[in-house]
This record gives sequence, structure tokens and C-alpha cells, in this order.
Amino acid sequence: MIIAIDGTLASGKGTIARRLAVHYGLPHLDTGLLYRATGLAALKRGVSLDDEAALAALASGLDWARLDDPHLRSGEVGAAASQIAIFPKVRAALLQAQRDFAHQPGGAVLDGRDIGTVVCPAADIKLWIDAAIDVRAGRRWRELRDQGNPLSLEDMLDQLRERDARDRSRSEAPMQRAADARLIDTTDLTIDAAVDKAVEVVESLNRPTP
Ligand code: DC
Repeated sequence: MIIAIDGTLASGKGTIARRLAVHYGLPHLDTGLLYRATGLAALKRGVSLDDEAALAALASGLDWARLDDPHLRSGEVGAAASQIAIFPKVRAALLQAQRDFAHQPGGAVLDGRDIGTVVCPAADIKLWIDAAIDVRAGRRWRELRDQGNPLSLEDMLDQLRERDARDRSRSEAPMQRAADARLIDTTDLTIDAAVDKAVEVVESLNRPTP
């Protein structure tokens, strides 16, 4: 079973994806980490975030064993990831490896922005996770504060608007809900309730037809 999960920043999609993977005993790939690792490699090596060919080379050479680097989660690296994700050559460099991950025996859970639309358009289950922007900003603000990177809530809201706009408006594989993706709005849900809802949706879609 391939479960494709897309959605906006701080919607809860990452946690839902991780928890669904544990629930169904499936491997999980947070595809945002691939874009983040490419962005971080560029920042570290002084590669311009506008140099598409050099960025694509970095994406091709990523060491997947190092995707657990906590530095990848920082706001700075997330912003770089969103910037480099606009380039078709960067996306192309990461595409086949994501598909290979999805198509391993037994399936997998992948989360990102274009999983249901581009990476796995034939996924068994597609979920679109979203929440009101002020709620998402509050969640992300608390997360960054706890990491010791305080930011005003107003700045957080601005950053989120900018990130959403860039992810939605890029010409290649923009962030969008697949026509056949089921929406889970986490605005008023605790994370446990959101995960329960996701399991419920998977069960309803995965039920064999009589
Ligand atoms: O989910 P995240 O915040 O870790 O993603 C960081 C950026 O990476 C996001 O702003 C856009 C890009 N991204 C993408 O373009 N496609 C994906 N499948 C995943 C992430």
C-alpha cells in the first residue's frame, strides 16, 4: 500500500505520516528532507541558491543516510529548501529515488508537496492535510521558540504566507491537492485526533469492495 500525504507547512502532515507508517508497519520518507538537505549542502558549500545546474548536482549526490541531521529542521534551511525546490532540474534529480522508495515491496508512506500529484499519482491512498494559517503559524512559532529561535508571531505569519505562495505558484510540481486526495483539516484537532482521523480515512479507502 502506498500512502501519499501532501499539505501545507505546519499542518501536521509530517507527524501524521510518521504515525501512519508505524501503525501500518510501512517505511516512511519525509521528502521535504531531500530538498532541505540539498539546500543545506548549497549553504555549506557556498553554492548560489540560483544556480540550477549546481543545485541539481548536489541533489543527485545526496547521502540519504544523513537525513537525520537535526540542522535540516531549522527555519533557515527550510527557506533555502523552498527556494531551490522551484527548479525543474533539482526536482528531476530527486524524482526517481522517491518513486523507488514508494514502490518497494509492501509499499511506503511518503509526505511532501507533490507526492499525490507527481511522485506517486497512482498511490492507493492520498491525503491532503491543511489547517488555518494562524493555527499553523502558532504551531511553528512554538516549535522554533522551543529550539531557541524566537521570532514574533507576526514575522512567523509573514514567513508562512511567503512560503505557501512560493510552494503554490512554482511552475514545476506546485503544491496542490490532488483531485482524488481526501482532506483532513487539523485546525481544531489535537495531533492524536488528526492521526485517528487519518487512520479512519485509510481504512475507509482501503476496504476491499464486496
Ligand atoms: O515539508 P518541508 O517544510 O520540510 O519542505 C521544505 C520545502 O521543500 C518546501 O517549502 C517545499 C519543498 N518541498 C517540495 O517542493 N516538494 C516536496 N515533495 C517536499 C518539499
